[in-house]
Amino acid sequence: MRVACLGGGPAGLYLAISMKLRQPTHDIVVVERNRPHDTFGWGVVLSNETLDRLDDNDAETAAAIRQSFVYWDDIAVHYRGEVMRSSGHGFSGIGRRRLLNILQDRAQALGVELRFQTEIDGLAAWRDWDLVVGADGANSRVRTALAPVFKPDIDVRACKYIWLGTQQKFDDAFTFVFEETPHGWVWAHAYQFDTDTATFIVECSEETWRRWGFDRMNADEAVAACEAIFAKNLGGHRLLGNSRHLRGSAWLNFNRVLCERWSHQNVVLLGDAAATAHFSIGSGTKLAMESAIALAQYVDSEPDLESAFRRYEDERRLEVLKLQSAARNSVEWFEDVERYLHLDPVQLNYSLLTRSQRISHENLRQRDPQWLGGAESWFECTATGHKPAAPRAPMFVPFRVRDLELANRVVVSPMDQYRAVDGTPGDWHFVHYAERAKGGAGLVMTEMTCVTPQGRISPGCTGLYSPEHEDAWRRIVEFIHAETLAKAGMQLGHSGPKGSTQLGWERIDAPLESGNWEVIAPSAVSWSPSNQVPRVMTRADMDDVRDAFVSSAKMADRAGFDWLELHCAHGYLLSAFITPISNRRTDDYGGSLENRMRYPLEVLRAIRQVWPAGKPMSVRISAHDWVGEEGITPSDAVAIAGLFSEGGADLIDVSAGQTSIDARPVYGRMFQTPFSDRIRNEGRLKTMAVGNIYEPDHVNSILMAGRADLVCLARPHLADPYWTLHAAARLGYDGVTWPKPYLAGRDQLRRLASRNESMTGKV
Ligand SMILES: Cc1cc2nc3c(=O)[nH]c(=O)nc-3n(C[C@H](O)[C@H](O)[C@H](O)COP(=O)(O)OP(=O)(O)OC[C@H]3O[C@@H](n4cnc5c(N)ncnc54)[C@H](O)[C@@H]3O)c2cc1C
Ligand SMILES: Cc1cc2nc3c(=O)[nH]c(=O)nc-3n(C[C@H](O)[C@H](O)[C@H](O)COP(=O)(O)O)c2cc1C
Repeated sequence: MRVACLGGGPAGLYLAISMKLRQPTHDIVVVERNRPHDTFGWGVVLSNETLDRLDDNDAETAAAIRQSFVYWDDIAVHYRGEVMRSSGHGFSGIGRRRLLNILQDRAQALGVELRFQTEIDGLAAWRDWDLVVGADGANSRVRTALAPVFKPDIDVRACKYIWLGTQQKFDDAFTFVFEETPHGWVWAHAYQFDTDTATFIVECSEETWRRWGFDRMNADEAVAACEAIFAKNLGGHRLLGNSRHLRGSAWLNFNRVLCERWSHQNVVLLGDAAATAHFSIGSGTKLAMESAIALAQYVDSEPDLESAFRRYEDERRLEVLKLQSAARNSVEWFEDVERYLHLDPVQLNYSLLTRSQRISHENLRQRDPQWLGGAESWFECTATGHKPAAPRAPMFVPFRVRDLELANRVVVSPMDQYRAVDGTPGDWHFVHYAERAKGGAGLVMTEMTCVTPQGRISPGCTGLYSPEHEDAWRRIVEFIHAETLAKAGMQLGHSGPKGSTQLGWERIDAPLESGNWEVIAPSAVSWSPSNQVPRVMTRADMDDVRDAFVSSAKMADRAGFDWLELHCAHGYLLSAFITPISNRRTDDYGGSLENRMRYPLEVLRAIRQVWPAGKPMSVRISAHDWVGEEGITPSDAVAIAGLFSEGGADLIDVSAGQTSIDARPVYGRMFQTPFSDRIRNEGRLKTMAVGNIYEPDHVNSILMAGRADLVCLARPHLADPYWTLHAAARLGYDGVTWPKPYLAGRDQLRRLASRNESMTGKV
């Protein structure tokens, strides 16, 4: 087979090697515009796992790479005069030029023709080759030539970076340096790649870059400015640029590339040409070389190119998507880094280490138990003012707000049970809430409990508008207080335009088959075409509903609740005022955000006045309508949270969505946590995170990284009322309190957990 590898980077060269190894009769040429020793970039990082894969494919190349590796174990973070160091991370680095020379030598030895200083200019010259591989990097000409087929999606990321080198030693740790300059924060990613040279990538936001005037500097001036910024880290060494071949400025924006298709007839994309992964997770070379193995393998094993390409793409696309997802988390962390620079160095370090969400709390414990123990002690000491005798996971650290202390940071999220009769919670509710309180969570929230009959979502919703309701709730709260350490939180709400609908397990949000009641809303906007058009609230309605909230808040206090939450999320009445999707008013309660917030704030202030000063209050919001700029965005949510905080909320419970049938949410693990993170760190407020958080590891990572103060779990508590007690057993933590009648069960669970390594280690 005649094979043309267009581009002589790691992808093209390694494919040529891998194909020759499988079939020495292939006639392969690698075409490259540069000379053999003339390359951009300095060093690249590869993991041991990748090296093992290379070993299986071609032991000789892997051995040569290993010989040139620089190994290091630590990550060091330089920040506000402190250097924090954690261990056990296991990296190895190699100079890009050295890597390419190894691959070039090996390819030549196997009989591959290397054609240097040859420009690839489209595909015309390569038409009659049997297989044409577009391995010409992130700005691939091959991809451009067939763009209508490959349909590349190119996401230009926000930060500016410049890839430099230095002879200053960074041989003891992968090093991050954060420097505050008069023009904003500038940071560097530095790592050794041979005995006397290190990579030094400098990065900053576009605003900082402009304020520095980097847009007007030539490459030498930019390098000199970077030297001045990082002088104290460079120990008198220079920064070295080697990207003069790039036209104009040596600063770049990272392009995230993903193509809808990777092949067309006999042309296939490989490496950065097909998909890129941001350098902050150091996996681009790994992706390129592992994809080269897969492509060579399938071309060899499959009967024709079409099926080879299909199998190659099926297998590698999944890997690419996983890495791009981790890379997106990581790149967003750096893009938002100024949000985190108020954090204590310990927390900043933790947040940096876990930024891609590939490294979890327990992974960090495995890597460096001492460092993690120190970080956990810091967390507890900051929260409680006492240095603990022994560190414990953040989820088990008490949380204090006003006069209330929660025993831990796990919250049973509000969940409508649709089991009430005329608003009265019955035996179902008693058993349901009692079980969750026995299960160890620090705070058990009730379902949305409605302030009027009309304000119910469905006929099965609980209420707090009659003495029977108050008595029934009191019975539940008294049990919780008498038998468990949990605190009881009441969520008050009014359904507004989403009222008079069916039970959760029927057609959710759809109108009742019969017996519908009138619904009210800020505007005559129905939830969906099949829901009723609500009656527009008059000022008198607003007074009535506000007074109903006040009356319910008084009842909640008398019933003994410790915590009150105002439900301003999910498209119900108060949420419907906040989001412009459902609020079309032209009076003082519609239009600007300030106007749309006026009524929800009025309700909040009114209930704060009657709710005891020693008891906390939270507000649940939808931080994203998921409908683009038309609706609430996470940036609006920071402003909304700030207004609620000024209005008396101690904490913002950060949910999202359910405000429009046109919403297009992006689901995933912990998918709403970024909104909590933003509100907490940009707005400097206390928050609860919620949404697809189900592992103790998720909870600990969120808390320790400062992304929330409390963590709400809903569905996990439906599946397992004892989620917190079970999490403690899995983590080997003995400090949680089990109900006395269940102590024998506790002891057995602990014994089993301590004997079964995988049970404790798996989290
Ligand atoms: C700042 C930075 C740091 C990085 N750090 C790491 C890291 O630590 N670890 C890691 O794994 N990855 C890292 N990467 C990513 C890594 O460099 C790429 O993912 C990897 O090089 C992809 O290999 P490739 O062969 O697909 O593309 P490239 O390495 O870009 O190779 C493409 C080749 O094609 C040639 N070419 C392009 N156009 C033409 C043309 N028209 N005519 C002739 N020749 C052409 C180029 O000269 C080049 O040699 C980093 C990337 C950047 C930007
Ligand atoms: C059955 C059920 C009922 C719910 N009822 C409410 C509710 O009454 N009030 C509320 O704010 N959220 C309610 N939610 C949303 C949850 O509190 C939570 O935000 C959501 O389920 C995401 O968390 P999870 O991924 O842990 O389930 C409900 C969720 C479920 C599954």
